[in-house]
Amino acid sequence: MASLGVNIDHVATVRQARRTNEPDPVWAAAEAQLGGADGITFHLREDRRHINDRDAELLKQTVTCKLNMEMSIAPGIVKIAERLQPDQCTLVPERREELTTEGGLDVVRFRRRIAAVVERLSRRGIEVSAFIEPIPDQVRASADVGCHAIELWTGEYAHARTSRARKAALNRLAASLELGQELGLLVHGGHGLTYNNIGPIAAMPGFSEFNIGHSIVSRAVFVGLREAVREMKALVAGPRRG
Ligand code: PXP
Repeated sequence: MASLGVNIDHVATVRQARRTNEPDPVWAAAEAQLGGADGITFHLREDRRHINDRDAELLKQTVTCKLNMEMSIAPGIVKIAERLQPDQCTLVPERREELTTEGGLDVVRFRRRIAAVVERLSRRGIEVSAFIEPIPDQVRASADVGCHAIELWTGEYAHARTSRARKAALNRLAASLELGQELGLLVHGGHGLTYNNIGPIAAMPGFSEFNIGHSIVSRAVFVGLREAVREMKALVAGPRRG
């Protein structure tokens, strides 16, 4: 069964809307863990638009499950990751003007720079995952540069408007999932996953982790974070058999 990483960036986004100290993403991480989160995911952006250095530090000190830091390959951020030593770093593309991470990292294009970052982080005992689109060349390049895992961008599936487009996106995910496993990579999935669309993805054998943020934090407004995580965990586990 795949594990569930809860992305808490959106809690910090609400805090930043008022430049105040609530809601606290570190508190959110504790609540998510009480709801059964297997991992806590946060994105320390260069512009610190939501998660800040204080959050990263406290998350490192308090999170007792897997801590996954999403990050760009910018030198300043890599240095912070080396010092912080989260369990896993997920390398993502980052543009200042985007609302959230859009699309995957181009590992084929930035192969040499990414290989150097993977080496530095691996030396610190950090598992490295590359957030990529489900494209065979990107999967192969991720294995070539020494990544331990890939996180397949599920955005195309999540945003598909027709069942045909959804099916095509699922097929692409399945092919990259299989290729990743053949190459010895752990395969994660994330972006745009919701309570409504997680079913077919969770039913695909082979995914070892899903990272989900917006949908869980949105539901938490109504039912609380602990309960929202509990509900998503049940969906990730899939229907009970027998
Ligand atoms: N995985 C990665 C690499 C991401 O960048 C994001 C968005 O921050 C997510 C997962 C979570 O996406 P969402 O908020 O749409 O669930």
